[in-house]
Amino acid sequence: MSEFDLKSYLSRRRQLVEESLEKIFPTACGLEKRVVEAARYSLFAGGKRLRPILCLAAAEVAGGDIEPVLPAACALEMIHTYSLIHDDLPAMDNDDYRRGVLTNHKVYGEAVAILAGDALLTEAFEYFALCAAKSISPGKVLEVIRIAVKAAGYRGMIGGQVIDLECENQKVSLATVEYMHIHKTGALLSASLEIGAILGGADEARIRAMKTYGHHLGLAFQITDDLLDVEGDPELMGKTPGSDAAKNKMTYPALLGVTQSRVAAKEHVDSALEALSGFGEAAEPLRAIARYLLVRRA
Ligand code: IPE
Ligand code: IPE
Ligand code: MG
Ligand code: MG
Ligand code: MG
Repeated sequence: MSEFDLKSYLSRRRQLVEESLEKIFPTACGLEKRVVEAARYSLFAGGKRLRPILCLAAAEVAGGDIEPVLPAACALEMIHTYSLIHDDLPAMDNDDYRRGVLTNHKVYGEAVAILAGDALLTEAFEYFALCAAKSISPGKVLEVIRIAVKAAGYRGMIGGQVIDLECENQKVSLATVEYMHIHKTGALLSASLEIGAILGGADEARIRAMKTYGHHLGLAFQITDDLLDVEGDPELMGKTPGSDAAKNKMTYPALLGVTQSRVAAKEHVDSALEALSGFGEAAEPLRAIARYLLVRRA
């Protein structure tokens, strides 16, 4: 069997997501155009598009067609982009660079950046709803919206983000940092997989396996994000390393050191792979993505 070419897979999928976002997301016009311009600035600044790519991959593993899933994949990227805009604000991480360009508030000011984030989050739910206009049943779409709400809100990402802020300058346990990572990053990643699986027509057992894979992938992803903040190359990352240490954030490397954090990331990647053991070749992209986390530089 020839080795799976992750690089070209990711680049093709990224292009598909970009094209769908471009088709679906409005251009700036009217008196309100500044906020749309600001949303577009961050949405089209680049980014790995990992959440939509995972969503589409999960739909394929379930045997589904990816075309009807594209609006939901775009919605996940919009929620993610909103979270980045708000995460960078002075009241939060106060960062100047994101996706290789100045952060949203540095260009548009704090008020418009907040509103651009709000707009992306709100509009995302229309895109989930658009899946019902395709070949997907309204019942499935409702289930998907419920999952997205839980993952993005206080039971998921928002909950994790508030813990992140409250842990600054505190001495907390590893269990607390793990809990924070599961919520602030794992929830949306895992939901992307669950949503893809549901829209692709997966059965209960497969949906559960996707969630388990997503749980471990989410942890490995945030641990490697923490590691990049310590040792990453700003050119490749498109954001400034050292941001966590400057704010005395509670991260895996802050608690465990770099070497032990790498071990923890590897354990979660192994567990993510284990969750896919019942799947055949269709899960090869998901396996390759999990392995890639251990060597990612952006
Ligand atoms: C960064 O996410 C924020 C985290 C949740 C760690 P990504 O590393 O996926 O950022 P982009 O989308 O590629 O810019
Ligand atoms: C962000 O975590 C998680 C989000 C929900 C955006 P970080 O604050 O570590 O993300 P980066 O490093 O700024 O991308
Ligand atoms: Mg943060
Ligand atoms: Mg941050
Ligand atoms: Mg980080």
